[in-house]
Amino acid sequence: MSDFNRVLILGTGPTSIQLAVNFKKHTGCYIAIAGRESVRSESFFSALEQNNRQIHASIQNEKHRTMRGDDSLDQIFEGYETILGEWDTIILSVTTDAYIEVIKQINDKVLKKVKCIILVSPTFGSNNLIKNYISNYNSNTEIISFSTYYGDTRWADEKPSNRIITTAVKKKVYLGSSHQASKNMERLYDVFEQLGIVLKMMDTPLEAETRNISLYVHPPLFMNEFSLNAIFGNLNDKKYVYKVYPEGPVTQYLIRDMLSQWKELMMLLEKINIKSINLLKFMTDDNYPVRLESLSRRDIESFVDLKTIHQEYLLYIRYTSLLVDPFSKPDEDGRYFDFSAVPIKKMFINREGKWDIPRMPKEDYYRIKIIQGIAKYLNSDCPVIDKFIQAYESKIQEVVQSHETELLSDAFSIQSFEDDINMICSEIEKSVKAQQKN
Ligand SMILES: NC(=O)c1ccc[n+]([C@@H]2O[C@H](COP(=O)([O-])OP(=O)(O)OC[C@H]3O[C@@H](n4cnc5c(N)ncnc54)[C@H](OP(=O)(O)O)[C@@H]3O)[C@@H](O)[C@H]2O)c1
Repeated sequence: MSDFNRVLILGTGPTSIQLAVNFKKHTGCYIAIAGRESVRSESFFSALEQNNRQIHASIQNEKHRTMRGDDSLDQIFEGYETILGEWDTIILSVTTDAYIEVIKQINDKVLKKVKCIILVSPTFGSNNLIKNYISNYNSNTEIISFSTYYGDTRWADEKPSNRIITTAVKKKVYLGSSHQASKNMERLYDVFEQLGIVLKMMDTPLEAETRNISLYVHPPLFMNEFSLNAIFGNLNDKKYVYKVYPEGPVTQYLIRDMLSQWKELMMLLEKINIKSINLLKFMTDDNYPVRLESLSRRDIESFVDLKTIHQEYLLYIRYTSLLVDPFSKPDEDGRYFDFSAVPIKKMFINREGKWDIPRMPKEDYYRIKIIQGIAKYLNSDCPVIDKFIQAYESKIQEVVQSHETELLSDAFSIQSFEDDINMICSEIEKSVKAQQKN
């Protein structure tokens, strides 16, 4: 028996609607969504109220039809503190940096009864974080981490409502659980098989959490002078995340940093006995493939054993090979789809009327500070990670100074995330001790 009879989704973003549609259809569960009351969630809750809790998931491309669906929510909670009842499974679909803030608002009685918590888009350490917190209420609760959210989902009408559209779906996602031989993992495997997504089971949740490409590429791509200027500087300047300099940030120096950061992360994984990742293979096989003419199988398979200069060369080839979609159909002029034309999003005024930082690199700041905290705890050097953080923090300080008279969101504060780091490291210590005993 799995624990998917009564499922509660936390979060009022587009992913919550997609998750609700998928879980309702394939498990037949009783389902609810809970969220905080905010300027952003106001139109979400009012759309649900006006439409009798109906939800609607649409697609852009027929090949993603398993994501399409209409259904209705069984319950809605406005404010996490209003959650009542017994819930077998909680799905955390809020941003990673808000996990503890959100879960803290839930009534103790509710938390004590929860059998399983699923983290849809965690970062390295999130499973340990939740495990540490929830052990105060119920030490048997299973915590499952996905490597990453399985689609690309946004609001169908631009603003939060009961309607979303999914424009891309991953073929494979990694999964790891705090419990061995888990029935819930087996059930999830079946559900996702029906969605056409392969769930690859990892030995530990940390291992699943390392299979997230953003960890490896977002800090180098966004936390450099060029991209930070594009985000926070002249608002009319258009720059592109994946283009080579001067249209985008990709230079030989960025590639060097990307490679060094990967090595710093691999050193950290080695210290806690987590399997390492072949970065180039992960990029090409799990994310976007390139033509064999550009990178041979031999280059890809032997990447980890090559000299640094050779690795940098291959990474640079990977980025330049994807400036266009090498598998698209060329137009009459022989031009392929401009794959790299992803604009760097700029700071913006949010719905509360405050200057805010786009998700990339706002979310990456939390992710990389947690990694830095774990590295420090394990006495693992991470000079490049330190450099990324330094660049980002000095930029946001600069913006604070130059916007003294304007309203700025909390994203502009420098944070230590010390409490989260301590909770994560305390779980890492427990598992290292357990490994030494065995
Ligand atoms: N959408 C995608 O295609 C996609 C793709 C890959 C990964 N992801 C990841 O999946 C997660 C959810 O995505 P989404 O698009 O559904 O996200 P979203 O629109 O950003 O919403 C996430 C939810 O988190 C809440 N939240 C954010 N900060 C909070 C805080 N400090 N305290 C309490 N609640 C907070 C939001 O509340 P408010 O509305 O009140 O702010 C909202 O309910 C994110 O981590 C995202 O990076 C999404």
